[in-house]
Amino acid sequence: MSKTVTLTIDGQTLTVPAGYSIWEAAHQVGINIPNLCHHPALRPEGSCRVCVVKVKGARNLSASCVTKVAEGMEVSTHTPEVLAVRKNIVELLLANHPRDCLSCARSGNCELQKIASDMGIRKIPYNYNRPPMKKDEGNPSITRDPAKCILCGRCVRMCSEVQGIGVYGFTWRGINSRVSPAFDLPLDKATCTYCGQCAKVCPTGAITIHNDTDKVWAALRDPEKIVMVQTAPSVRVGLSEALGGKPGDIVTGKMVAALRQLGFDKVFDTNWSADLTIMEEGTEFIHRLKDGGVMPMITSCSPGWVNYMEMFYPELIPHFSTAKSPQAMFGTMLKTYYAQKMNIDPAKIVSVSIMPCTAKKFEAQRPELSASGFRDVDVVLTTVELGQMIREAGLNFQALPDEQFDPLMGVGSGAGTIFGTTGGVMEAAVRTAYELLTGKGLDPLELAPVRGMEGIKEATLTIGKTKVKVAVAHNLANARKVCEAIKAGNPHGWHFIEIMACPGGCINGGGQPISLEMDTPVKRQEALYTDDRNLPIRKSHENPEVQALYREFLGEPNGHKAHQLLHTHYREQIRG
Ligand code: FES
Repeated sequence: MSKTVTLTIDGQTLTVPAGYSIWEAAHQVGINIPNLCHHPALRPEGSCRVCVVKVKGARNLSASCVTKVAEGMEVSTHTPEVLAVRKNIVELLLANHPRDCLSCARSGNCELQKIASDMGIRKIPYNYNRPPMKKDEGNPSITRDPAKCILCGRCVRMCSEVQGIGVYGFTWRGINSRVSPAFDLPLDKATCTYCGQCAKVCPTGAITIHNDTDKVWAALRDPEKIVMVQTAPSVRVGLSEALGGKPGDIVTGKMVAALRQLGFDKVFDTNWSADLTIMEEGTEFIHRLKDGGVMPMITSCSPGWVNYMEMFYPELIPHFSTAKSPQAMFGTMLKTYYAQKMNIDPAKIVSVSIMPCTAKKFEAQRPELSASGFRDVDVVLTTVELGQMIREAGLNFQALPDEQFDPLMGVGSGAGTIFGTTGGVMEAAVRTAYELLTGKGLDPLELAPVRGMEGIKEATLTIGKTKVKVAVAHNLANARKVCEAIKAGNPHGWHFIEIMACPGGCINGGGQPISLEMDTPVKRQEALYTDDRNLPIRKSHENPEVQALYREFLGEPNGHKAHQLLHTHYREQIRG
């Protein structure tokens, strides 16, 4: 069978791989066919029919996202009949859609709004008759507004097929139809990990990120408060997209400048505490390896993954590293080390973090993350929310000069920066653990087998006389495979495993700008690797500000004080 197919679309002849849909073929040559239920990261379903086209010889119009290309096929994407049918489908969707677009969280970034605008729909010829539906706002991460659901099923497919959980399903019938967790449970009662991937694929305002910008504006206006902010590695390669830039733009300096312009008193780098995490987690791993501790050890810095494990695999809790996440470590050190050093009352500090992650909002509210006597992190904003604040302030982001992070907690290594991508935490940990165990630097420094977007990656290293086998998994369907393998006796012989909840890791977290382009996460990942290569320090244990922290405040990694402040515990979560 031929591996390619030649067809014409709107008179243009093109050759594409056999098995492509008409929509994919058209997209490849820049022919725009509107789509709503289809998302390039998901299996096509063909439910909304917005993407219909005319295929010569076919009796009915064909949904281009589910119709495969065929040799000699002749496709027309914008005949009068096609345009009229599409427009009527969208008018029917709008008829049952709330009319509060101006104040909707997705205003200006809503696929339904854009399609309606592109189609020139200026009035809706049908009456609104959908019954009232209750919003779900009872959790810190994700807000659901079923009245805005257009039943495209993207969230259903994302949660079940990519993340392997299946929180959402189609419920009720007819005009009452909606997508919701079983029994209409709110998300905090369902087995939702708060990864936010559903919000990333929702085309409308039906699933959005819980917005905390008001809390930050209030703190910035309060003269009694000292507002300090940390920024996660992935934010510097995602923020630009929210402000008119391209995927993969590295905007660290402009981001720092914007945060100062917004009024933050100090601007710090979560890369600093990613390095600190490596010191604690790497030391913990070395102890487990030498002393026969519970193996394999699994990373614990992805809060969606922590929720998943606590809900679905609580028996694996002893495998978790007890090291807090970089976000939480940073918050603790801000209100202890930094406050002491600068003679600031920690009660006056408002600790804000900018994260690519929606689950971080939940993590910050965990009661155990307050070992200093104060909450580690007071408010978590996503990359998208920071973009909104910058727009609200009217800053011309692209014209801002580059500025540096504030000192003491503002230096991060390249190892810290690659925390943002799948494989990055493991690579950072190996750079340090190898050198601490052997006294020699890892050569080459870059751990190629754990790079890239493969779902589960492995590498074997000879460290002294021991062969150490590490594994990396991203997205929760792959996490499940890893958990099952551990339960089956760890047949792969893994010693250390990195797991991140989101596909691709934090670069593609639920709080990053929404993109319909499949190569966006890869561009962000490449940007982090570029950032790593360009930084003067590339190993966590060489970070001078982290070395000073141990010398002046904590003592030894994994020592008594470090354990008290920088480690945590986990518990089974029972929901549903
Ligand atoms: Fe093709 Fe919905 S986008 S049917």
